[in-house]
This record gives sequence, structure tokens and C-alpha cells, in this order.
Amino acid sequence: MTDINQLLENNKNWSESTKEADPDFFDKLSKRQRPEYLWIGCSDSRVPANQIVGLIPGDIFVHRNVANLVVHTDFNCLSVLQYAVDVLKVKHVIVCGHYGCGGIDAALQNQQLGLIDNWLGHIKDIAYKHRSELDGLDATQKSARLCELNVLEQAANVRRSNIVKDAISRGQDLTIHSWIYSLRNGRLKDLTKIDE
Ligand code: CO
Repeated sequence: MTDINQLLENNKNWSESTKEADPDFFDKLSKRQRPEYLWIGCSDSRVPANQIVGLIPGDIFVHRNVANLVVHTDFNCLSVLQYAVDVLKVKHVIVCGHYGCGGIDAALQNQQLGLIDNWLGHIKDIAYKHRSELDGLDATQKSARLCELNVLEQAANVRRSNIVKDAISRGQDLTIHSWIYSLRNGRLKDLTKIDE
């Protein structure tokens, strides 16, 4: 484990090297942010939004929670979505899950973990909805498929939100994407596209 002081030291080095590469970097960014993308992803430490899509600070607005859920009564996620769509006017909302998601596996295995069980109940609902497809799969395939189905369901929740419906009806340029990330090879896949 890295010493906590090392993080502050890393930050100092990063700040200095960033300024060296672009002396105006922090000046420009401190005045305003104009990201074109909203990322709704998992809190998993192995799926850092900016890094895996090669974007620098200022380029992507991020919301992360366990298993990248978009719950209609979650004012945290909805507030991020509303601000991103109505105020920042992002052009793309990316819902990104990942294979091997601990939240998905915990929901599948019915583990008792405490408060988070209620949160994971949303995933159990999705597993139940798609039980006829999932029941025919082995444990590994089931986990992977539920990770995918969860992304598709959460993207559908984004589309169903009054925030997105209102934006689309007033002609705002906005596209919702369903992506999944592989921890094994670091690659993203668009779930709405046929496998290559
Ligand atoms: Co996860």
C-alpha cells in the first residue's frame, strides 16, 4: 500500500509537470469546465473514467457508484445527470459497466453485506427480469451477461428519465451509450454494436 503522504507528493509532481507541459492549463480550467461527456460508471478502482478513454481533466463529467446504477429515486445520480444535460449541455451520456463487477456478483450470489444489499436489490430485479436467459448459463457466463444486461437497463433508465426526455423533445443534441469494460484487456465494447 502506498503511504498517504506519497499521494500528496504525487500530486505536487503531477501539478508541476502539467504546468510545465502547458503553462495555462490550470488557469484555463479554473475559469470553466466544458465537458462533452457524462460518464456513469462503477466505483471499482480498476475502472477510472478519464484514464481508460484518454481524457484529461475538464473533458468528462463523472458519476460513479457501485455497479453503475441509475435509480429513478437516486437524487445524487439524477442531480449529476440534470446538471450535465441542462447546464453543461453534454452531448453524450456513457453508461459504462465492467465484467467481473463485485456488485453484480454479490447480487447473483445473494451475499449478505449490510446496507448495500438494498442497493444491490436493483440488480437482483434485473436478474429476475431476465431469468429465462440467465438460467441457461454457467456461473461465469451468467455474471458476464448480467454485467451487460445491467448496463443496458441503466442506459434505458437514463433514456426514461424526464431529464433526457425533456432534452430530446427540445431538440438537444444528446446520445446515450451503453459500454462495458474488460478488466482483462482494458478494452471497452459498445453493447449496442454487433461483436466484431
Ligand atoms: Co463494479
